[in-house]
Amino acid sequence: MHPPKVCCEAIAEEDKALKAHLISADMPAQHILRPKKQGDATPFLPKKITITTLQEAARSCKGCDLWKNATQTVFGEGNSRPSIMLIGEQPGDKEDIAGHPFVGPAGRLLDEALEAAGMDRGDVYVTNAVKHFSWTPAERGKRRIHKKPRYSEIKACRPWLDAEIAVTHPEVIICMGATAAQALLGKEFSVTRDRGKFVPSPWATYVMATVHPSSILRAQDEESRRAQKESFIADLRIAAAQIKKQRRAA
Ligand code: URA
Ligand code: SF4
Repeated sequence: MHPPKVCCEAIAEEDKALKAHLISADMPAQHILRPKKQGDATPFLPKKITITTLQEAARSCKGCDLWKNATQTVFGEGNSRPSIMLIGEQPGDKEDIAGHPFVGPAGRLLDEALEAAGMDRGDVYVTNAVKHFSWTPAERGKRRIHKKPRYSEIKACRPWLDAEIAVTHPEVIICMGATAAQALLGKEFSVTRDRGKFVPSPWATYVMATVHPSSILRAQDEESRRAQKESFIADLRIAAAQIKKQRRAA
């Protein structure tokens, strides 16, 4: 049996509850009447949409909270009339500092794979589903550890991606990794099951998903890294062949 609560303890508890209530009652009316709506990037879009105005406007986007801990917005860049648009997940540590997409280790692998598939980085437009670096501090040391963006952040950043697709109008879109694939093709899309296949989509005539170059860098050993890179190149070749076929038909 617990001893009954001493009277003054019970009063202190009641007091606390009352104070909490008063704090919420004290809040400005708009917070009580209108719960804060989850925002997105829409209010930050420029009036006139070109790649340059988009890049410029995205610098001051506060459509979700990711801008708070990032160095800068890392917008898409590349050919403004690309045959292929490549979509990654979000900028990494190196990209956050440099302000350009895919300039770190994953970017190097991507460049090698594009070259092996007969494409040039100058022919493509490269972007990410999310434009700010999402990270958490390492338990020890100063390293910033990549943190997968939340679904709400991917959704908030979506107006930028939609605008990039609308303005560059790529013939082929390649989603690299599950984040980009699910952002564009729906939450049920499985990269493992459907990689390297063109899937019907309203976003471009040809849309496919493949793995993310970072996943290749995480391979357990050299042998599996080599094999995974070959499969990635094979997927890129399918896209390159499709472009060539269209050119011949035109
Ligand atoms: N990974 C990504 O998804 N995007 C980048 O820009 C770099 C690494
Ligand atoms: Fe805006 Fe996207 Fe950055 Fe969020 S991640 S602040 S929506 S640019």
